Amino acid sequence: MKKNTVLKMTFIFIAAISIAVSAGIIGAEEALTPVQELGEQIFFDMKLSIGHNQSCASCHTPEWGWTGPDSTVNNDVVVYEGSIKNDGRFGDRKPPSAAYATQSPIFHFSRGGLWVGGNFWDGRATGEKLGNPAADQAQGPFLNPVEQGLCSLSGLHCALRALIRRSLGI
Ligand code: HEC
Repeated sequence: MKKNTVLKMTFIFIAAISIAVSAGIIGAEEALTPVQELGEQIFFDMKLSIGHNQSCASCHTPEWGWTGPDSTVNNDVVVYEGSIKNDGRFGDRKPPSAAYATQSPIFHFSRGGLWVGGNFWDGRATGEKLGNPAADQAQGPFLNPVEQGLCSLSGLHCALRALIRRSLGI
């Protein structure tokens, strides 16, 4: 499988799990499709971070409304440390809830004169690249040095290919 295909599929799997979450499918504990299961595995897999200590769920925790899991941080400090600890590797924004991300339309200027859609506080994951803002944004955290901090796209590619093979047999 080509590198770009694996990565594109992964971001779409993550979008699929987010759709399942926001539709209440996961909360209701109904059976997931194989693609949604794979998205769930990727979302919760700490091995997809440089220190094997952080997953998407570390900053988007189900029990905390899919945002950060620490009320002190959420109320006062607002930023979370990345996978590399004790080194001042913090982002500069609070994690929004990831629960509604896939319902956001492609970033656009509405007839009412407002900018609407996209993901992130400023909408910069517009959705124009992969057709969905949540899929566009999922390209960031794995390699971002203040998040999961993986060193290379090829390392990420290998880890994801193994997960996809195991789960879907492709
Ligand atoms: C270290 C904490 C951290 C980790 C790990 C992390 N995120 Fe985030 N996430 C954030 C922050 C902070 C923002 C807001 C960034 C901004 O607006 O510039 C964000 C924004 C988002 C959004 C946008 C939500 C919206 O409605 O705009 C989604 C979706 C999301 N993250 C999903 C993920 C996924 C999927 C992963 C794993 C691949 C992940 N995050 C890993 C901190 C984190």
